[in-house]
Amino acid sequence: MELIDGNKISREILDEVKTEVAGLDGGRPCVAFIRVGEDPASVSYVKKKDRVARELGIESRLNVLPETVSQEALFDLIDGFNADPAVSGILIQSPLPGHLDELAAFRRVRPGKDVDGFHTVNLGLLCQEDDAGFVACTPAGILELLRRSSVSLAGKHVVVLGRSLIVGKPVALLAVQKKDWANATVTVCHSRTANLPDVTRRADVLIAAIGKAGFVTGDMVKDGAVVIDVGINRVPDDSRKSGYRLTGDVEFDSVSPKTAKITPVPGGVGPMTVAMLMKNTVKAFRRQHEV
Ligand code: GUN
Repeated sequence: MELIDGNKISREILDEVKTEVAGLDGGRPCVAFIRVGEDPASVSYVKKKDRVARELGIESRLNVLPETVSQEALFDLIDGFNADPAVSGILIQSPLPGHLDELAAFRRVRPGKDVDGFHTVNLGLLCQEDDAGFVACTPAGILELLRRSSVSLAGKHVVVLGRSLIVGKPVALLAVQKKDWANATVTVCHSRTANLPDVTRRADVLIAAIGKAGFVTGDMVKDGAVVIDVGINRVPDDSRKSGYRLTGDVEFDSVSPKTAKITPVPGGVGPMTVAMLMKNTVKAFRRQHEV
């Protein structure tokens, strides 16, 4: 079993992006973050993205709206960033509070500033295998992690656990693309899939993105499989100062001995999401400034 080191690989990408940013003509890329409320996981993710952006020389604007904000006020903030030529990219941290229409918010972002890749236009471009669009950061990070770990997907059976807009669907669309680094046969599973362990046991590459701590156990995985754990679940742990620890969707102790390669949590997919956001922000800037 080999651990796929997402910290190391994301650092390589961030170094590349930092060099690219330093050489850009026409100003600095800028990413605007919108966070609604004080969900602790969202606070921590946005803080991390903001810090990494600054380290790379990317300008960051962090906007926090109250938990009770109206859809109209959220739209107003998005519209302001859409119209501001200094803003290259806009990210609305998910999940939003239940009274807000998250999909409508994602669709409000100008497609050319949609560095999260959740807008209808960008998902359509992904479906059409058109590289002009923005690909969602976690799926893009997973494919990049596999590429840089020399895991070829061509002809392999990739099983995706989870059908979310943020990970499951776009990662399936990426893996099935007619590209040298993809060409996989893809199965997407979800809560209504029959005989789930039978399906996951047929995976050469298993991507777990369901948000349930330790859901994937050793008996669900084929010997020699590659396992990508996208889950970042907070489970109570009194021995930690924070009162919790982070656990993936994969039960690491029973699964890892069976695998050829596996990503840890933390330190696997998580840092790749941040790195791909930085890449998308620079791509947006280049597009807007034609540099
Ligand atoms: N919540 C969990 N992952 C993501 C992500 O990649 N982007 C946004 N905006 N919210 C998220």
